[in-house]
Amino acid sequence: MDADGRRWIGLTLALAAAGGYALAQRQPEAGKLLQAACVQCHDLRPIAAQRKERAAWRRTVNEMIWRGAPLLPGEAAILVDYLAAEFGRDAPEGGLR
Ligand code: HEC
Repeated sequence: MDADGRRWIGLTLALAAAGGYALAQRQPEAGKLLQAACVQCHDLRPIAAQRKERAAWRRTVNEMIWRGAPLLPGEAAILVDYLAAEFGRDAPEGGLR
């Protein structure tokens, strides 16, 4: 196979991986957002101690944006997804996992 062909296969694999792992990559991204936007005023304890459903997390995140958390609308949605998954109603009690 020539170098062009190999490059093409490499690109195809990279694209397939990007699609497959897009979901998994949301979590580290959400973790970064949390560190960037949610620890200036308090640490993560009040967050990790909560168990709320998605709508309630959305309200909390909106409230924190109102207080001054530096989040763009798209970032807020990623964070709400993450919080609802990690600290939702049926998440086990107890700190950060
Ligand atoms: C500008 C300061 C500030 C930033 C930034 C901030 N918070 Fe808060 N947060 C507060 C204050 C002040 C309180 C206490 C409010 C109270 O006791 O009513 C609080 C309380 C909380 C609580 C506990 C009370 C509740 O409503 O459940 C949670 C959870 C929370 N913050 C989550 C977050 C998240 C998630 C982020 C990032 C999006 C964030 N905070 C960023 C100021 C901030």
